[in-house]
Amino acid sequence: MTARIINGSALAQQIREEAAVRAASLTAAGIKPGLAVVLVGEDPASQVYVRNKVAACEKAGFHSVMERYPADLSQEALLERVRALNADPAIHGILVQLPLPKHIDAHTVIETIAPEKDVDGFHIANAGLLMTGKPLFRPCTPYGVMKMLAHENVALRGAEAVIVGASNIVGKPMAMLLLAEGATVTLCNSKTRDLAAHTRRADVLVVATGRPGIVTGDMVKPGAVVIDVGINRGADGKLCGDVDFASASEVAGAITPVPGGVGPMTIAMLLVNTVEAAERQLQEQGKA
Ligand code: GUN
Repeated sequence: MTARIINGSALAQQIREEAAVRAASLTAAGIKPGLAVVLVGEDPASQVYVRNKVAACEKAGFHSVMERYPADLSQEALLERVRALNADPAIHGILVQLPLPKHIDAHTVIETIAPEKDVDGFHIANAGLLMTGKPLFRPCTPYGVMKMLAHENVALRGAEAVIVGASNIVGKPMAMLLLAEGATVTLCNSKTRDLAAHTRRADVLVVATGRPGIVTGDMVKPGAVVIDVGINRGADGKLCGDVDFASASEVAGAITPVPGGVGPMTIAMLLVNTVEAAERQLQEQGKA
């Protein structure tokens, strides 16, 4: 079997265009959606991600602010910037790019972001809302994966969904979103015994570990939908995912490529979350 390739770039483009239309009507109503992206340090991958996020905002007609700080910025100085953005009425979404330098506690930074501007959905208030089935913001990458599965008409009710990687950014919120759709969810982590025994049962397999090649074709159930969240730089300098694409695409029914799969969807969903934050502000104004 040769898997159908799920084109994340095309779907992301469509979602970005829809976000641009919503942004235009918000702007006409006097609220231009605004996103602030904060980058601390010189991590090359983070620089690329942040640049792409800001460019996507500008293309969709958003107000966007990019703040870059040196790696030795103090935690208190960063918290001061976050507090200022919390109070800035032109900003509806705040994203502090992770990872942060070691001397800064990411948890403290995330908890300082106003929950109603936390377009990453990482604040404990938003994680709790997601867990209890009342999400305000869904974290962008898992949200993008759900959009891809819906677009591909993947049946989730009663399906076996296996997630490899239990991070706060992807694995855990992914589990909550799949569970909410009625999937039976298995969340594997780095201590999981016999990973292949789990992955081979998966109708839907989501892999988000940052370890290239952790899933190979022999670990995939024939006909499964395989979603590869990894973005790694291979020894040949090319981008690759966490899934061995060559062998997995021989077995899977559908699979996301890297690049051009989940990556573009993350950015598209960031725009959606920012538009939603601005729309909520407009609604609040209407009530006042
Ligand atoms: N680093 C890797 N992915 C993400 C993300 O979705 N949001 C933020 N803020 N940092 C990240």
